[in-house]
Amino acid sequence: MKNQFICGDALLILKQLPDSSVDMGVTSPPYNKQENKKGWLVENVKYDSATDKKDETLYQKEQIEVLNELYRVIKPGGSFFYNHKIRWEKGVMLHPIQWLSQTQWNIRQEIVWDRMIAANIRGWRFWQVDERIYWLYKPKNNKDLIGEELLSKHALLTSIWRFSPEQKVEHPAPFPLALPVRCIYAILNEKEGTVIDPYCGSGTTCVASKLLGKNFIGIDISQEYLKIAQKRLENYLQEEKVMLEELTKHIVRKTFQERKKEGYWDKRLQKKEVQTKLFE
Ligand SMILES: C[S@@+](CC[C@H](N)C(=O)[O-])C[C@H]1O[C@@H](n2cnc3c(N)ncnc32)[C@H](O)[C@@H]1O
Repeated sequence: MKNQFICGDALLILKQLPDSSVDMGVTSPPYNKQENKKGWLVENVKYDSATDKKDETLYQKEQIEVLNELYRVIKPGGSFFYNHKIRWEKGVMLHPIQWLSQTQWNIRQEIVWDRMIAANIRGWRFWQVDERIYWLYKPKNNKDLIGEELLSKHALLTSIWRFSPEQKVEHPAPFPLALPVRCIYAILNEKEGTVIDPYCGSGTTCVASKLLGKNFIGIDISQEYLKIAQKRLENYLQEEKVMLEELTKHIVRKTFQERKKEGYWDKRLQKKEVQTKLFE
């Protein structure tokens, strides 16, 4: 299955996909924000064909099921990037780790997405401008919990990602194109592969995949959003600039190995010794 948008419930569609058939994925599910929890000056996120107002226990149970189905569908050694955020329900913190730790996935990293701005401006807490991106990993076997190393040019981007929220796309909650570009490029580099997004909305992950020369599978329950996604895909080159700009950030002047070979660390250590002597 390659380069397809599928309209339907994520869990039901995922159940129809074969085991270990997809290389990686990126998604941002509905957050179950109860549709009425924003501060003033803010429009509630309301989806076209789905409710964002579920019983929290049921919501988390469904997310676990979807994540475990994704685990089955992704190839061993593959990765999945899950964007979510910390929420509060009647003053009690709801943290994505609560349900992620109940899935089969190995949680490889928690990345902080610094959005720099957020719509909710009430003062119950310090202004929450961050979201989280969980890098989930499917080990190749029982002994492999760590997986392959990232290339330095990706790893140097740090665990704090700074992207402004997307404002141009006609969808209530899209993520910025640079976000899936970063995830896909860091994992697949120049390799071929298929990328899945089970809640693809306006198709941002699919456009990122196309721009990077990868195949994609995009699932969403809304026909309307998939129409936007299809249109974006037909005109994907119009968004190429964002992808190219992101790729310029994946650079490394000298790798750790190169510095080591040149004795960079030895020189620094020697300097330290001299300094210590000054105070002896
Ligand atoms: C946060 S949005 C994803 C936005 C997407 N990342 C983008 O950039 O446009 C969540 C999406 O999940 C979809 N959705 C909600 N419930 C769903 C379900 N049960 N199965 C599949 N899609 C669902 C909504 O229609 C919405 O487009």
